[in-house]
Amino acid sequence: MTMPQRIITPPCAEPGAPGPLQATGRLLRWGVVSTGRIAGKVSGDLALLEDAVLQAVSSRVEANARAFADRLGFAASYFDTADGKGYDQLFADPDVDVVYVATPHGQHYEIAKLALEAGKHVLCEKSLTINAREALELADLARARNLFLMEAVWTRFLPIIHRAWDIAHSGELGDLQWLQADLGFPAAYDAASRLWNPAAGGGALLDLTVYPLTWALGIFGFPRTVLANGHLNDDGVDAQNALTLTYASGAQAQLTSSLLASSPRTATVCGSAGWLRSGAPLHHPTELTIHRHTGGQRTEQFGRIGQNYVYELREVTRCIQEGLTESPTMPLDDTLNTMRLFDGVRAQIGVSYANDKAIPVLD
Ligand SMILES: NC(=O)c1ccc[n+]([C@@H]2O[C@H](COP(=O)([O-])OP(=O)(O)OC[C@H]3O[C@@H](n4cnc5c(N)ncnc54)[C@H](OP(=O)(O)O)[C@@H]3O)[C@@H](O)[C@H]2O)c1
Repeated sequence: MTMPQRIITPPCAEPGAPGPLQATGRLLRWGVVSTGRIAGKVSGDLALLEDAVLQAVSSRVEANARAFADRLGFAASYFDTADGKGYDQLFADPDVDVVYVATPHGQHYEIAKLALEAGKHVLCEKSLTINAREALELADLARARNLFLMEAVWTRFLPIIHRAWDIAHSGELGDLQWLQADLGFPAAYDAASRLWNPAAGGGALLDLTVYPLTWALGIFGFPRTVLANGHLNDDGVDAQNALTLTYASGAQAQLTSSLLASSPRTATVCGSAGWLRSGAPLHHPTELTIHRHTGGQRTEQFGRIGQNYVYELREVTRCIQEGLTESPTMPLDDTLNTMRLFDGVRAQIGVSYANDKAIPVLD
């Protein structure tokens, strides 16, 4: 029996290494761009890390910036004025080492680029950009300036996810042949919401598919072929999509993402000797169930720390402290290949964004 090699490097966890909240070196001073939903949740976890300083937040709106800073304990707050953008002030702040970008995807490229040009390390929410061209520009810029850049795919850093992938790669499930992963919830249509707004990069693909895809990448890696179907709304946004990934071994992955339907939100990895299913939701489950084809099953359970963003935040901290410009667990090449895959899916299902044409064509 030949097992696929472990594809995604687990986060650094040497025996005796500090836990995810413990200080590891010098303090790291964080600036956060946005006062939205995820900015608040991640900042709450940031406050749990011993070596994180909550230095500054920026918003388009003064009242939001001040309220967010007061609620979460940021030292400075910046906001848009007639003279310029709040984030420009944040990038000019010499007391900010690393910037967390948590605006809608449509703004990631412009904001992350400005942060890198100002000499800041960057953690940017998923999807890193709207398309592969923008992602490549950011990666080239970060590499040229020797700055850390990472797409915030937090699922990759969770111990339960690495446990699931370790079980699959251990041979316990036999030859791995098939994977199914879904993420769906009914999101009420609102033309202004980032989920539906084309200018914000709306649609199920850029918002949700990164998580089912993360399971496919962890088990099988990048596929040989992708066959995509999508249902587009009148604004040209994919309300749901279904992808079939095929691999040279013959293995297949079926990934479904929906902004219309409530779904089980699980990942199932199937082999010749049994199958493993994640609890819901698949991007941050607390339970795994392993079933043997010959009968019998067991369940493994995992706890949480904060909202579980501490693991990715700890990795950003470790990498910057150690002078790494990329995380081995979430390298830029994986983001670039993901964006290329998404570009290919969008070409198949007919989704395009204004930003696709906003920057010059690269050779
Ligand atoms: N890692 C995760 O678990 C996770 C979960 C959900 C979302 N995300 C990602 O995080 C990003 C933000 O999602 P979210 O749910 O936090 O969105 P959200 O609640 O709508 O917040 C987005 C914030 O971005 C700021 N913003 C700046 N320019 C904007 C513009 N042109 N239009 C709208 N907002 C703008 C706004 O803050 P100000 O008013 O302060 O400027 C807004 O509140 C997305 O890329 C998404 O994919 C990640």
